[in-house]
Amino acid sequence: MNLLITGGAGFAGSNFIRHIIKKYPNYKIINLDKLTYAGNLNNLKDIEGKPNYKFIKGDIADQRTVLKIFRNYQFDAVINYAAETHVDRSISDPEDFIKTDVLGTYNLLEGIKQFTISKYIQISTDEVFGSIKRGKFTEKSPFKPSSPYSASKASGDLLCYAYIKTYKLPIIVTHSCNFYGPYQYPEKLIPLFITNLLEDKKVPLYGDGKNVREWIYVLDHCNAIDFLLHKGMLGEIYNIGTGVEKQNLEITKIILDELGKNKKMIEFIKDRPAHDLRYSLDSNKLKKLGWETEYNFKEAMRETIRWYSKNEWWWKPLKSGEYLEYYKKQYLS
Ligand code: NAD
Ligand code: DAU
Repeated sequence: MNLLITGGAGFAGSNFIRHIIKKYPNYKIINLDKLTYAGNLNNLKDIEGKPNYKFIKGDIADQRTVLKIFRNYQFDAVINYAAETHVDRSISDPEDFIKTDVLGTYNLLEGIKQFTISKYIQISTDEVFGSIKRGKFTEKSPFKPSSPYSASKASGDLLCYAYIKTYKLPIIVTHSCNFYGPYQYPEKLIPLFITNLLEDKKVPLYGDGKNVREWIYVLDHCNAIDFLLHKGMLGEIYNIGTGVEKQNLEITKIILDELGKNKKMIEFIKDRPAHDLRYSLDSNKLKKLGWETEYNFKEAMRETIRWYSKNEWWWKPLKSGEYLEYYKKQYLS
C-alpha cells in the first residue's frame, strides 16, 4: 500500500509512521510535513534512510505543493495528521490554525477529488463537540467548539462531511480523545509536567485542576487508525476513546508520585479562557467494528514517564529559546 501521511514529523504522526513501518514492511510511506515548531525529524531518527520511507518538507496550506505531490506519486490512502494543535497557541495567535487546519484540509480534499485515492482519513479531535458535564458525545453530536483550535478542526471536519456528501469521496473522519506517550511536544499537559519536574521546576495547573480529559496511549491511537485504514467504512465518522477519564489534578498526582515529588510543586495559575470542563466520547461504533485498546492506562503512563526520564536529548532542546519565550509571555507576565 502507498501512503501519504501529512504531519508525520509531529507527535502522533511519527508514532504512526513507526507503527506502520514495523508492522507492514512492504508499505511505502511519504511523510509531508512543514516542520513547524512542533515538527521534529528527531522523532523519526530510527526510520530515516529506510527504503520504503521518504520525507518531503512542504505546507498543506499551499495548494500547488499538495497537488504536485498527488501528481508525482500514486497513493492508495492519505492520512491527515498535519495541524496546528495547541489550544493556548490558538488563543494567542489563531491565523496559522485557520491556514493549516481549514485551508490545508481543503487542499488535501481537492487532491483526493482530482486524483484516484481509495481512502482519506481525517485525524480530528473530541474538542469539536465542546464540553459535556454528563454523558458522552456520539458521532452525531453537534459541533460546539470553544477555542480557535477546535473551531478550525471543526471547520476542516465539516469540509470532509461536505466532500463525502457532495462528491461521494472515500473519506473517514475520526474524533479522538487526548493522546499521551513518547515524542509529544513539551507544551502539552503530560510532557510539560513530566519534564518540568525532571528539571525540578513547578507545574502550572490551570484553574482548580478539576477539568476532565479522556486519555488514550498514542500506540492505541495508532492501532485504531491502522484498524480504520484496513477495515473502516468509507463515508463514516468514528469516535476513538478509551473511557479512561481523569481530572488534571489526578494526572498531576500520578506524575508527582512516579517522580517522587510532592504537591508543593503544583502552582495553580490563571485558567485558560473558555476552558472546556470535560470531554467524553462514546466509542461503541468503533468497538462494534472490532477495535479494542491494548494498553493499560497505569502501565502506559509509567512507560511514558520513563521515556521522558531516559530521553532528555529529545526534549531538552525543545524547552529552550522560542518555547521559553512563549511560556514566559503566556504565564509569567
Ligand atoms: P503535533 O502538533 O505534535 O504535530 C503536528 C505536525 O503537523 C507537526 O509535525 C507539524 O510540523 C505539522 N504541520 C503543521 N502545520 C503544517 C502544514 N501547514 N503543512 C504540513 N505539516 C504541518 O500534533 P499531534 O498532537 O501529533 O496531533 C496530530 C493530529 O491529531 C492533529 O490533527 C490533531 O488535531 C489530532 N489530535 C491530537 C490529539 C492530541 O491529544 N495530541 C488528540 C486528538 C486529535
Ligand atoms: O482532546 C483532544 C485534544 O487534546 C487535541 O485535539 C489537542 O490537539 C491537544 O492539544 C489536547 O488538547 P487539550 O487542551 O486537552 O490538551 P493540553 O495538554 O493543552 O491540556 C490538557 C488539560 O490540562 C487541559 O484541561 C488544560 C490543562 N493544562 C494544560 C497545560 C498545557 C494545565 O492545567 N496546565 C498546562 O500547563
